[in-house]
Amino acid sequence: MADKKEVIQNWPLETGDYAVGNVESPVAVVSLGSNMNDELVAAGAAISGPLHTENLGIEKVVANIISNSNIRYVLICGSEVQGHITGKTVEALYENGIDEEKKSIIGSPGAIPFVENLPVEAVERFQKQVSIVSMINNEDVSEISSKIDECISNDPGAYDEDAMIVEFN
Ligand code: LMR
Repeated sequence: MADKKEVIQNWPLETGDYAVGNVESPVAVVSLGSNMNDELVAAGAAISGPLHTENLGIEKVVANIISNSNIRYVLICGSEVQGHITGKTVEALYENGIDEEKKSIIGSPGAIPFVENLPVEAVERFQKQVSIVSMINNEDVSEISSKIDECISNDPGAYDEDAMIVEFN
């Protein structure tokens, strides 16, 4: 079995409309405008929840992921959210990071992609800790569940560093 790290008490620290499963699972699911929380946690995800906003919502996703070093994959699925385009915005954050002065996500197609609560170190940690698995606009629970299985089979084990906690203002 892949090496795991003990998960901090009260994880996930940021509240949201998600379900929590096996906290040692390497997979976090972001289901955008869709809600498949219970099915995808039953399929093996550590956490599964929708993501409606390209600012506060993304801050919470990043904070909850980097505070659990066992998470190595962020699987983005479900229907893309119009206007906010949160799926593509998570991908932009992962690929390009943030503009430190403006606190904006570089290359985001979303309307207001500002992440004022995220220090650059948190974004860099997110980029290093996880891989993105992109299934945007896919709502097929059995296809998504197979992908979760595949990630679990390929689990590289916990990220080498301890949980990073982001304090929100
Ligand atoms: C979201 O983007 O889904 C969040 O803003 C909701 C929340 O938990 O604040």
